[in-house]
Amino acid sequence: MSEKDDKDLQETGSDRKGIDRRDILQGMATLPVLGLFGYAVHKQVSYENAQVAQTLGTAQASNLKEVNVALLGAGAQGQVLLDAMLKCPNVRFRAVCDIWTDYNLKKVVNILKKYNFNVNGYEDYREMLDKEKDIDAVVIATPDFWHSQHAVDCLKAGKHVYCEKEMSNTLEGARQMVLTARETGKFLQIGHQRRSNPRYKYCYNKLIKEAKLLGRIVTVNGQWNRAVQPDLGYPKRYEIPADKLKQYGFKNMEQFRNWRWYKGLGGGPIVDLGSHQIDIYNWFLEANPVAVVASGGNDYYSPETREWYDTAMVVYEYETPQGRARAYYQTQTTNSSLGYFERFMGDQGTLVISESDANYANAIYREVTAPAWDEWVQKGYVTAPKVVEVKEEKTVLDVRESVSPDEHKIPVEFADLYHRPHLLNFFNTVRGLEKLNCPSEVGYESAVTVLKVNEAIQAGRRLEFRPEEFEVS
Ligand SMILES: NC(=O)c1ccc[n+]([C@@H]2O[C@H](COP(=O)([O-])OP(=O)(O)OC[C@H]3O[C@@H](n4cnc5c(N)ncnc54)[C@H](O)[C@@H]3O)[C@@H](O)[C@H]2O)c1
Repeated sequence: MSEKDDKDLQETGSDRKGIDRRDILQGMATLPVLGLFGYAVHKQVSYENAQVAQTLGTAQASNLKEVNVALLGAGAQGQVLLDAMLKCPNVRFRAVCDIWTDYNLKKVVNILKKYNFNVNGYEDYREMLDKEKDIDAVVIATPDFWHSQHAVDCLKAGKHVYCEKEMSNTLEGARQMVLTARETGKFLQIGHQRRSNPRYKYCYNKLIKEAKLLGRIVTVNGQWNRAVQPDLGYPKRYEIPADKLKQYGFKNMEQFRNWRWYKGLGGGPIVDLGSHQIDIYNWFLEANPVAVVASGGNDYYSPETREWYDTAMVVYEYETPQGRARAYYQTQTTNSSLGYFERFMGDQGTLVISESDANYANAIYREVTAPAWDEWVQKGYVTAPKVVEVKEEKTVLDVRESVSPDEHKIPVEFADLYHRPHLLNFFNTVRGLEKLNCPSEVGYESAVTVLKVNEAIQAGRRLEFRPEEFEVS
C-alpha cells in the first residue's frame, strides 16, 4: 500500500484528531531494525507506567491486570483509538475485524504485528466472537448504523464494550444497547471522550460545583465550524466489490467512505460533531433539555451526495436545578471561523472550554459585579487575572459601556492523546478499579438530545422532550 493510496483517502471528513495514522506508518517506515523498535516500545511503556502510576499509585500500576482486546472497525477513528490504546498499559491485542480486508484490516494487523501483537484479522465479527474466546473487551469504531448490532452481539458474547459515539443512529438501536448491557452485566462505555478529559472534569467538579465561579448558568453557546471539504476518496485498486458492499449496507464506494452524510447510516454534522459538545451541555447544566428549536438545511453541498444538513443552528431550553437556561449550538461546514468550543455563561462568570487548545483560551472570566476570586486564585483553582492595560487617552463615549471581565486561566494542562483517558477509564473499570465515566445510560440521554435536532429541522417547529424519553426501562 503506497503513500499515494493513503493520500487518495483524503481522511478529512470526520471529527478525528490526535496523531494521524500516516504518522504511525511513516514512523514505522523510518525505524530501521527491530532493535530500535524495541527501544521505542520500551520507552513508551515506561512513559505509560509513569502516567498510570500518577493516577493509580505506583503499586497498582505495576500490577495492572492484562485486558485482552479486539478492535471492530479499523478505519480512521479505529486507528486513532488504536494509537491511544497502544499507550495504555497491559492491553493485549488479540484480533481486529474490518470489512475492508485488503486495506484497513491489513494495515492495522500489520501495525499491531510490528508492536509484537500476533493478532488475527477477520471480516465477519461473528466469526471473530466465535473463535476468539479469550477476548475480554471489544472496542467498536464502525459507522454509526452498525453500532447497535455490533455492541449488542459483543455484550451477549460476554465481552465488555467501548463503543464510539454516536451510540446509534436510531433511539431504538441505542435502547437495545442499554438493555443488553444491563441484562448481561457487562460494561458499555460510549465514546464521548470529553467525559474523561481532566480539564473538563476539573471545570465541572472544581470550578462549577465546588467554587461555584459561574454562579447561576443562564445561557450557553458553542459551535463546531469547519471549512469546505471534498468527499472522502479511496484507492481504486482497493475498491470493495459491489455485492460485498451491499451485504454490509452500502450502495457504493462513495457512500461507504462518506457514510456519515447519508440518512440511515449516520446523522450528518450535528450528530457527528455536535454530539460531543451537546453532551457537555447536559453534563454541566445537570439536566436534560425540555425543548428544542432548530434551523438547518442543505445550504451548500448537493443533497444528492450529502443527504444530511450541512448547517444546523439549534437552541435548547433547559430547566436546571438553578432555574431556566437556554443553550445555543451551531455547526456548519463551509467556514472554520473560531473552530470549536463551548461557552457557559453565568451571572458570576463565563467559562470558555474546548478539547483543543490550539485556538482556545480555556479560560474563565469573572463578571465585574461578582465577588472577588482572590480565595480561588490563592488556592490555585484559577490563575491570577491577566492584567489589561488601560489606555488613558481613550475617550469614554458612553459611561454605561461594560468593563471587560477579568480573564483567568484554567490551570490544567492536557498534553495527551484526546481519547486515552477515556479508554484508560474503560480498561480500569474492566479491571474493577474505576467506574465508567460515560455508561450507556448517559450515552442514551445524549443520543436523545442530539438526534432530536434533525427531527426539529425537518418539522420546522419547536419540539418538546418528555422526561421519560431519556429513560430506558
Ligand atoms: N470520538 C471521536 O472523537 C470520534 C472521531 C471520529 C469518528 N468517531 C466515530 O467512530 C466511528 C467510525 O468513524 P470513522 O471516521 O473511523 O469511519 P471510517 O469510515 O473511516 O471507518 C469505519 C471502518 O469500519 C469498517 N466497517 C464498516 N462496516 C463494518 C462492519 N459491518 N463490520 C466491520 N467493519 C466495518 C469500514 O471498513 C471502515 O474501515 C463512527 O461511529 C464515528 O462517529 C468518533
